[in-house]
Amino acid sequence: MALSITSAKTVPAGAKLTAVGVFEGALPDYVDADLMAAKGYTGAAGQYQTVNGPNGLVAMVGMGKADALTIEIVRETGAKISRSAKKHSHIATTIVDELPEGIDQVGAAQAFAEGLALGAYTYTAQKSSPEQADLKKVTVVSGVAKVTKAVALGAAVADGVMMARDLVNEPGGSLTPPKFAAQVQRMARKVGLKVKVMDKAAIEKAKLGGLLGVNQGSTHPARFVELTYEPDVKPKGTIAFVGKGITFDAGGLSIKSGTGMMTMKCDMGGAAAVVGAMSVLPASKPPVRVRAYIPMTDNMLGGNAIRPGDVVTLRNGKTMEILNTDAEGRIVLADALSLASEAKPDAIVDLATLTGACMVALGPKIAGRMGNNENWIEQVGAAAENSGERTWHLPLPADYRKMFDSSVADIKNIGGPYGGSLTAGLILEEFVGEGIPWVHLDIAGPAFSDSGEKLHPKGGTGFGVRTLVQLAQDFAKVPKN
Ligand code: BES
Ligand code: MN
Ligand code: ZN
Repeated sequence: MALSITSAKTVPAGAKLTAVGVFEGALPDYVDADLMAAKGYTGAAGQYQTVNGPNGLVAMVGMGKADALTIEIVRETGAKISRSAKKHSHIATTIVDELPEGIDQVGAAQAFAEGLALGAYTYTAQKSSPEQADLKKVTVVSGVAKVTKAVALGAAVADGVMMARDLVNEPGGSLTPPKFAAQVQRMARKVGLKVKVMDKAAIEKAKLGGLLGVNQGSTHPARFVELTYEPDVKPKGTIAFVGKGITFDAGGLSIKSGTGMMTMKCDMGGAAAVVGAMSVLPASKPPVRVRAYIPMTDNMLGGNAIRPGDVVTLRNGKTMEILNTDAEGRIVLADALSLASEAKPDAIVDLATLTGACMVALGPKIAGRMGNNENWIEQVGAAAENSGERTWHLPLPADYRKMFDSSVADIKNIGGPYGGSLTAGLILEEFVGEGIPWVHLDIAGPAFSDSGEKLHPKGGTGFGVRTLVQLAQDFAKVPKN
């Protein structure tokens, strides 16, 4: 069962431990300073030490120097607590009422709740006897009314992130497109989103030639899922979220290496982030309409698989010569971006585990951010930064477009040997409707982690959910370029 995170005005009687924040050089007066010095405990960020306090067991959680505190440190502190205190069934924490003046208490409370929930996350669905944490309940103690709402929002956002992690972590042979679509449909009905699932016949009728082409080598039929969130208020506009949903990427006939394939169940990380974020919106209630577009297929090498040299006709009528079947994300996203554009949204953002080149450029933890409108690129960048997800602006140089000129079709599906993330982005741009602000986040690196970090274990990270929820919340009409 998921960890329950609630708030209260005072420490509840049932709490077995109270986590307090400690800043460097400011230990509580009930602890033995010499003993702590001997143990090397200073209150540095991430240090955790239990002591007997005046009213029972206390966990002192180091948060570093008070004047260096950031929201990210508060989020990580939450994760530290839920990971370190997992032997107690119910704990309380007073940290959000102990923060220095300069910090936004409401934003910090949300981040803290996110950290508490995310720190406790594990994926155990495939374990025969999973280890059970005893920790079931955390009470965030605060005398400030707005903190209650912020804690609830943080817990809801974390649920969306964990939904995305579970989807990514589920093996590719298990989460097939029909199963993925059915799961999204169930979620949508539960939280109150409009949902439309296109099966293979409907995809054929809609002429999604890219999705069908990539799906040719598979035994599992493709799906295309659309979700709509409608706000209670008059919408400030409409945003489209597009997510790459390759449930497993073997590379197709341009087959990947054994090691290159090992983590490729993560190739629906963009779709998972979109689904996770959409699941949060009925609770976070942003004042915008949001439509989601999710193409789902795996990229396999059955006898009918698409061949290098084959040409597909995409939804918008453009033709694409497929020279490398492992560059499949752009093929399915071409159809999805065309469909999203037809509904004339005020802005589009797509998330895709698109290129290994982006990991070469930015490493495993930072997403590439590119687009066709400076203001929208900035809005997405700000939403990412404010939610603690790292992105970096990359260019889409117009003169690189000739790298994917084709002698037989309108374009090829690959550029040259260099600048692979940029040519992929430029290919996507070909399918964005004229004048529609669009941003592409290449999340090939941060969607999946080979190492455990403060906020997530190895595996799916749920990267992008927090950015999308924040982006919808803060949306402002985008001026034309
Ligand atoms: N899904 C991969 C990109 C990827 C690589 C995601 C590593 C996460 C980790 C994508 O479909 C792919 O195979 N891209 C190719 C493109 C190339 C053939 C032009 C790549 O990056 O090698
Ligand atoms: Mn691929
Ligand atoms: Zn892929």
